[in-house]
Amino acid sequence: AKMKGEENLGAVVAHVLAFPCPAQGHVNSMLKVAQLLALHDVRVTFVNTDYVHNRLVRFGDIDTLLASYPTLQFKTISDCFTEEDHPGIGDRVGDVINSINLHAKPLLRDILLTQKVTCLIADGVFGSLTNILARQLGITIIHFRAVSACSIWSYLCSPKLLECNELPIRGDEDMDRIICNTPGMENLLRCRDLPSMFRPNRKGHLMSIDSVVFQTQQSLQADAFILNTFEDLEIPVLSQMRLHFPKLFTIGPLHHHLNLRKSEANKASLPNDTNSLKGNLFPVDRSCMVWLDDQPERSVIYVSFGSVALITREELLEIWYGLVNSKKRFLWVMRPHMITGKVGEDQIPVELEEGTKDRGFMAEWTPQDEVLRHKAIGGFLTHSGWNSTLESIEAGVPMICWPYFADQQINSRFVSEVWKLGLDMKDVCDRNIVENIVNDLMVHRQEEFLKSAQKMATLAHKSVIEGGSSYCNLDDLIHYIKSTTL
Ligand code: UDX
Repeated sequence: AKMKGEENLGAVVAHVLAFPCPAQGHVNSMLKVAQLLALHDVRVTFVNTDYVHNRLVRFGDIDTLLASYPTLQFKTISDCFTEEDHPGIGDRVGDVINSINLHAKPLLRDILLTQKVTCLIADGVFGSLTNILARQLGITIIHFRAVSACSIWSYLCSPKLLECNELPIRGDEDMDRIICNTPGMENLLRCRDLPSMFRPNRKGHLMSIDSVVFQTQQSLQADAFILNTFEDLEIPVLSQMRLHFPKLFTIGPLHHHLNLRKSEANKASLPNDTNSLKGNLFPVDRSCMVWLDDQPERSVIYVSFGSVALITREELLEIWYGLVNSKKRFLWVMRPHMITGKVGEDQIPVELEEGTKDRGFMAEWTPQDEVLRHKAIGGFLTHSGWNSTLESIEAGVPMICWPYFADQQINSRFVSEVWKLGLDMKDVCDRNIVENIVNDLMVHRQEEFLKSAQKMATLAHKSVIEGGSSYCNLDDLIHYIKSTTL
């Protein structure tokens, strides 16, 4: 049966099937790639799992999206879980990825064939499956990863690290050991800064390090590779990667790039801030924007740990005490179900209630990129997910990093040590430390961090305006995709 929007398809020849990893930080990124292509008259079939698509329909505004982009359509496939036993889009997304890698081949193949797709852009976590499919059908295969180049590069360096006995990590006492054989990031990473899959005791239900490395290596065989980053941010690592990837397109920061390209295309029909255009999979509460309007400039620290990270009740209280004791104002995203342990059994201590009433605001899900650009925001306590990191960079907001898992451990090392955009609180959760680090960022070292954040924000902006590296790379990518007609 035809889905909404299908009848709108124009007479364009290049046809991309975009297949994201089914989680918030990945779907919203791939959706931005899809919009950038559709803006340039590339036909795009965006394939979600049923589970993700239902959330996008509920919490986004698919009709606006389809009306805005006549060459975009959606299709869905099953991820082979029933509604009742579904792992969701949280920290068990590794189970969904494994299931798709096992079962999705015929489903994708069917769409590729019936839609006459000329180019498959798939998340690299489906590297092996999508390479095989594309080769069988003789179509172009491009991998996209919604994470940092430095994290991808660390996976690719790992066989070498094993060979020279720098890996595996030997236990907790080993966490401060410096890793050497990582060209482009020598003498920078300690064991604790490697992506968390390298750790012997890791948080969350992630893919194993073996399958992450295996899938990442598959991208070396893809026809091209797209990353949501920009040259000035990760050039030493990107130069190393280019020795292995013949066509590596950096086109980020995607959210900013898309906004600029939309205004350039001058399509009055394209609304700026609807949930579907951002790919929200959670209901957005905008009331925090009204609260922010009443706060002094650069006075609020925004606290959010993304869509996946979980927090124990003990950690929650340490951070909460730290924030309240710092006497700074804070806006905190408290996602439903993000707290583990015996929630609700104990009363919230009265001093926290009061401190929050005076200076804090809690929200279940915010319009984050708008929040970060609000003049009242002076800092971001973040889990260092890649989208959050890029949004903070683009908005010129310094960060305190408290990474949870996966690529977040290495991102936070770059934020603090390479880009000097903030402070790394990795592997620590103590109310006194939180209080001090918040004051360091928001008071004592505010000027220093705001200055470097502003500098990096300018570079981010330059990369996506006409003539910038991401701008030119997107043009090249579109040209490449348009050359892939059947
Ligand atoms: C996941 C992984 O966990 C992360 O390590 C990887 O880098 C990307 O994919 P997630 O943990 O959700 O992502 O974090 P992040 O990449 O920061 O993406 C979260 C997205 O949700 C951001 O675009 C952010 O703007 C948005 N968000 C978050 C909101 O819109 N509102 C909120 O209240 C919180």
